[in-house]
Amino acid sequence: MERVYRFAGHTCAVSLCRRDELYSDRAPVAFSVGDTNTARYLPDAGARFVLPSGEAAKSWQELERLLAAMLDAGLTRDSVVYGVGGGVVCDISALASSLYMRGCALVLVPTTLLAMVDAAVGGKTGVNFGGYKNMVGTFYPAQAVRLCPELLHTLPEREYRSGLAEVIKTALLGDGSLLDDLEQRREAVLSRDDGLLADVVWRCVQVKASLVEVDLTEQGVRAHLNLGHTFAHALESVEGLGLWSHGEAVAWGLARAMELGVAAGITEAGYAARVRAILDAYGYRLDPIPEAASAIRAAMDRDKKRRSGEVRFVLQEQLGRTVVTAVADSLIEQTLTGG
Ligand code: GLY
Repeated sequence: MERVYRFAGHTCAVSLCRRDELYSDRAPVAFSVGDTNTARYLPDAGARFVLPSGEAAKSWQELERLLAAMLDAGLTRDSVVYGVGGGVVCDISALASSLYMRGCALVLVPTTLLAMVDAAVGGKTGVNFGGYKNMVGTFYPAQAVRLCPELLHTLPEREYRSGLAEVIKTALLGDGSLLDDLEQRREAVLSRDDGLLADVVWRCVQVKASLVEVDLTEQGVRAHLNLGHTFAHALESVEGLGLWSHGEAVAWGLARAMELGVAAGITEAGYAARVRAILDAYGYRLDPIPEAASAIRAAMDRDKKRRSGEVRFVLQEQLGRTVVTAVADSLIEQTLTGG
């Protein structure tokens, strides 16, 4: 199955494929990038660069090493670079591809649920810089994204659940029947039922791509994809990477966004309760952390999504009805302290 999207003049062919189809009969591989977890999935052909696994590899230093390896391999603008891995590999290989000779061809093969439904689609590239996540980056959509849900069978449980939080967020943004499935078919979702997984990944990509098609550079509706993320990024930066996975923080942030939306008179209480029940059913930690409230609030102020000196939150009236708005300080505090 393949669908071609247009992201501000960039054509991106997204396809669902089996593992043995990933590199067959396609653009010749010149160079591939993976990490120590995904090296086994790299194509045999071409030169390769293997990053250490983990968030620390998403650095300026690794970007420079990667660019040097691309130069050593003699890549030209027409050479096809394959990024094969989770969010870190997708983000850094895409950034390097956007910079090398002002842009060479890029194919992404996401290997985690999080990367399949989020990082690989939509053209955000980046490395962490100066202590901030994704502070340096470009918008550079891959010319192709190959989704192979069978790779998810070996994903560690915690990473799989981390990706599921982004799946739930995506359903909230625009796919009510996906939310019904997540609610009603939880066992099949958690047991990684093949057919269901392919369907879930495919539908998430449709929701995300439909927002990116109209707003690649996040001037408007693309910001909806940050539902729950103002809280999540702040929590991650306070508690430290590794304690909370990104998805766990997103689930916690979704719970806070629902509470804040209700307190601000924006979110329907019944909808917020339904979202919380779904998150709860998937086993996420959802309660406020009052002892960290002031540190989380301070981290929010540093969030790069600030506009004109104020933190803006992505909130929802209902499923599919999303707004971006500033909120009174007292309500934010109440949400963070659980008061
Ligand atoms: N991960 C949010 C976005 O791609 O805009």
